[in-house]
Amino acid sequence: MGRRTKGETPKEVEPRMVTIYFMGKAYQVPEGITIIKALEYIGYKLIRGVGCRGGFCGACTTFYRKKNDYRLYSGLACQTPVEDGMYLTQLPFVPAERRKYDINNVKPDVNTILSLYPEIARCVGCNACTKVCPQELPVMDAIQTILRGDLAKAAKMIFDCIACGACSMRCPAEIVHYNVFQLVRRLYGKYIAPKAKHLEKRVEEIENGNYEEQFKKLLSMSVDDWKVLAEKLQKGEDIVL
Ligand code: SF4
Ligand code: SF4
Ligand code: FES
Repeated sequence: MGRRTKGETPKEVEPRMVTIYFMGKAYQVPEGITIIKALEYIGYKLIRGVGCRGGFCGACTTFYRKKNDYRLYSGLACQTPVEDGMYLTQLPFVPAERRKYDINNVKPDVNTILSLYPEIARCVGCNACTKVCPQELPVMDAIQTILRGDLAKAAKMIFDCIACGACSMRCPAEIVHYNVFQLVRRLYGKYIAPKAKHLEKRVEEIENGNYEEQFKKLLSMSVDDWKVLAEKLQKGEDIVL
């Protein structure tokens, strides 16, 4: 590679292209971009199966196979780079039933979970759920921990579940893990976790109307004033309204 002389326009480096298959059709896309970007590159406008694009919302679950590989892989389309020969399909959502309950009228124990989601007792310990989880959570162990009645431990194990549904697509016991995990987290948050006293105090202050004046002032501010405020906040400066 020669050095560029003065006045010479830099040459753009052409990206290496790879072949991916989507809905049975082959497409050439630049190597290294994410699956979501690849789908947009080939002309799809994504209005379902995409949300945060940052690996947090769980909307972009994708299953795929690789060239000369029998295994079925899964990942988040916004985080997984394309590979040559990738044969993929996206799941805009995973159909699932969420049971109804009143969180104020349930006990924080395994019987509550079993009465709402009895299928968790059918877990055969195959570990397919753990292997497929893009968050690398110990999904099977969490189900077993719930069955042993340790909801506090289970809630911590699955705190980072983004409800992508990949585990539920593979589970032979047809467990909808993310709904079970949501219930566990709610029970933990309401009944088991230590109460944050400072938060309770602040909620009480808000309910008593202690900040009404400040709220009104904020709502009447112009966009430029908001920007100044945001800059101050970013610098860690104290704000007085
Ligand atoms: S536990 Fe299941 S739903 Fe939650 S992130 Fe992992 S695969 Fe997705
Ligand atoms: S995939 Fe289903 S049956 Fe298999 S370990 Fe996970 S929860 Fe149990
Ligand atoms: S778009 Fe939100 S996790 Fe991928």
